[in-house]
Amino acid sequence: MSKTATGLAVTSALAVGGLLLAAVTSQAGAAGTALKTLAEAKGIYFGTALTQSNLSNSTITAIAGAQFDMVTPGNEMKWDTTEPSNGSYNFGPGDAIVSFAQSHNMRVRGHNLVWHSQLPGWVSSLPSNQVQGAMEAHITTEATHYKGKVYAWDVVNEPFNEDGSLRADAFSNAMGSGYIADALRTAHAADPNAKLYLNDYNIEGQNAKSDGMYKLVSQLKAQGVPIDGVGLESHFIVGQVPSSMRANMQRFTALGLDVAVTELDDRMQTPASSANLAQQATDYAAVVSNCLAVSHCVGVSQWGVGDADSWIPGAFPGQGAATMYDNNYQPKPAYNATATALGGSTTTTTTTTPPPPPNSTCTVTDSVNAWNTGLTESITITNTGTAPINGWSLAFTLAGGQTITSAWNASISPASGQVTAKNVDYNGSVAPGGSVSFGFQATHTGDTAAPGDFTLNGTRC
Ligand code: XIL
Repeated sequence: MSKTATGLAVTSALAVGGLLLAAVTSQAGAAGTALKTLAEAKGIYFGTALTQSNLSNSTITAIAGAQFDMVTPGNEMKWDTTEPSNGSYNFGPGDAIVSFAQSHNMRVRGHNLVWHSQLPGWVSSLPSNQVQGAMEAHITTEATHYKGKVYAWDVVNEPFNEDGSLRADAFSNAMGSGYIADALRTAHAADPNAKLYLNDYNIEGQNAKSDGMYKLVSQLKAQGVPIDGVGLESHFIVGQVPSSMRANMQRFTALGLDVAVTELDDRMQTPASSANLAQQATDYAAVVSNCLAVSHCVGVSQWGVGDADSWIPGAFPGQGAATMYDNNYQPKPAYNATATALGGSTTTTTTTTPPPPPNSTCTVTDSVNAWNTGLTESITITNTGTAPINGWSLAFTLAGGQTITSAWNASISPASGQVTAKNVDYNGSVAPGGSVSFGFQATHTGDTAAPGDFTLNGTRC
């Protein structure tokens, strides 16, 4: 396991008004080792959330399988999915996530057993003397179903108010604060080997809310209640990783608990500015360094693979760009900063391209994202001429060992060697100054280089 994420962008040729420039740019040129491999070498894991719909997106699954070694189901193990009506259980979606994880040698963080949100109405409508029985039955059935298949459970999710007091919800209303110990004991009885966590947001730094969590888990430990860890969700705003995060983690681990960064993202206003993307890289590095510095910080999980599947734009309108991969699943500065913080070395790969011929009327840019045995490549053709293009055919040569397995926005054949990408019925026309993008997935045997020269409709770009 060595060669992994390579992000490479090559501007192969640029012709501007008769002035010819040979331009080579490189970005995100991390020719390095997968995050999970780097993390494992440091004794931690690096995880991601995945939803069932993510499993049918081959770009997402390729990155997930290559880069991450822990999966948290985004929604599929929550109560509204697993027990939508009293006593009727649905584990299909959660099972799909587990099976993806198992087939990619990834572990699973079970998320979650008890939470005020994504809770079906029937639970909140129960008479209070029936809530405990329903909660225990739910925990027992779900934790038993996944027994031996989850590394950890977020047994109770988000139990605190911002001031550190216990949140009022169906469970605390019916049972008082004792519901948390009861939930932990019930989960432990069902799956004694799973690590049991309490998980919350805004408890990353030292503040009233994390003080509330600290007080509770201290008591639970003192009472011998089975609790193994505290999950710090870490839904950050760019530039706002608390400076007390490391000390806060340390006070929890000093109690004999594990800590984990369970849902990392770092949001900003969109479209993202390069200053914010740089700050995000600093933030990701700080979070990873904090975890590495604290023994018994067991790992870091990002909430989603990339910006395009992140929950942030839906939950915080106008904000986004919160993950390490951009909307096209290209690694962002935060990816490189994370790899570096994990001890990886990043090298920049540049490709020198020949100057374009005179009177070139096209520019082609392409970027590659590669893993152990696979890569995705996005290619953009720009019509720099004065005449419209009606129907295009772009010829280029794949590096040895690369074989295309699927393509989008173009039909490409053959699958390796000298290939030709042709427009599909909806994108054949490119006006002067206009662009068209397509891409493909390929397997490779080690050479992840991008094609260097392109011929459009018989003319080199
Ligand atoms: C989010 C999911 O990502 C969304 O798809 C869903 O609509 C709402 O929940 N804290 C948690 C996660 O513990 O379960 C939440 O996940 C994000 C905040």
